[in-house]
Amino acid sequence: MLEESMDKPHIVTCTAPVNIAVIKYWGKRNEELILPINSSLSVTLHQDQLKTTTTVASSRSFQEDQIWLNGKEEDITHPRLQSCLREIRRLARKRRNDGDSGLDSTGLSHKVHICSVNNFPTAAGLASSAAGFACLVSSALAVYTLARVFGVEGELSGIARQGSGSACRSMYGGFVQWIMGQKDDGKDSLAQQVEPETHWPELRILVLVASAERKPVGSTSGMQTSVQTSCLLKHRAESVAPGRMVEMIEAVRRKNFAAFAELTMKDSNQFHATCLDTYPPIFYLSSVSQQVITLVHRYNSYYGETRLAYTFDAGPNAVIFTLQQHVPEFVQVVQHFFPPETNGGQFIKGLPVNCTDLPEELKQAIGLEPMPKGISYVISTKAGPGPCVVEDPTQHLLESDGWPKKTE
Ligand code: DP6
Repeated sequence: MLEESMDKPHIVTCTAPVNIAVIKYWGKRNEELILPINSSLSVTLHQDQLKTTTTVASSRSFQEDQIWLNGKEEDITHPRLQSCLREIRRLARKRRNDGDSGLDSTGLSHKVHICSVNNFPTAAGLASSAAGFACLVSSALAVYTLARVFGVEGELSGIARQGSGSACRSMYGGFVQWIMGQKDDGKDSLAQQVEPETHWPELRILVLVASAERKPVGSTSGMQTSVQTSCLLKHRAESVAPGRMVEMIEAVRRKNFAAFAELTMKDSNQFHATCLDTYPPIFYLSSVSQQVITLVHRYNSYYGETRLAYTFDAGPNAVIFTLQQHVPEFVQVVQHFFPPETNGGQFIKGLPVNCTDLPEELKQAIGLEPMPKGISYVISTKAGPGPCVVEDPTQHLLESDGWPKKTE
């Protein structure tokens, strides 16, 4: 009986959020440790709309570490996965030696089974690796320390960073900075919360999912080429990003939307300019992205104030920031200039949006030629919390024996 219970896997499930950078990370000074050439700042998106769920099981009966992503077994020997698992085991060992966990001495040698799913389609173009690695390190540490581990996010962010740079920022909710650090070993290259998710309740985030287009160059290799060839990127990292970080933190703290929005747009534009300055050049923005940029500027100038901001990562989807009161009208604008398929699915997903009228004068002022089906749908969300433990065992993605659930 005792033998049996000792063989029973220990299982933990966590969820973790996606984040969207408003001061972009682009370029590494150390590829292996994933150390950036500039600090960055992001907003953590709410997990009600976008999240990764990961279950980790550990058992002495497992022969090897294994991972399943969105229903498919993947290669666990990937160097970034290996770095994360190695560092998690190291941290768990350190915590046990410090005497603050109920870990038994054999637990750390146990192999793990990891199963992870996203509640959003990869086509949404959102960096799923950020939520994925944040979720992996949260749940793996919890499984090894047999304890709730939140409170060590700083250290954990340094581990998530070694999975994917932007993942370190998904270790916190709200507004998060990734301080680039100076040390060669990367010990000071960590994320830190600037303000919690409750800080700016009126802030809304709309993800405009552009119709499926393949991402041309992945961020890892894209930024590598940029570091090698773009002198604009060097200038950005040395002389622009540091000042913008200070200004952005100030804008967030004061909830100064106009300042926040302007910096967000300028930083997105500069990031895409460094992509164009890369040789050979990299293009992430599509004609739909460019139409959104023009639309946002014309909308803001119609009102004579900055009510909307756009930002784009390594893909064509716009992420729009605005305040709650402007959402209904902006959604009407999007529907007008990117008429959706009439018989298609729901155009607005996520937080409900009230209907409103679109003033004829505003349509005229924007004056763009509509691009039918340019945007497939919009995800309406807000800032949200960092990784969470899922207490309900029925939500585990692995069976109680630690193997993936059979799908019909
Ligand atoms: C444009 O974090 O995906 O989204 O560290 O190589 O995994 P790796 O890159 P990744 O790059 C994200 C780039 C970005 C900007 C950002 O999120 O700051």
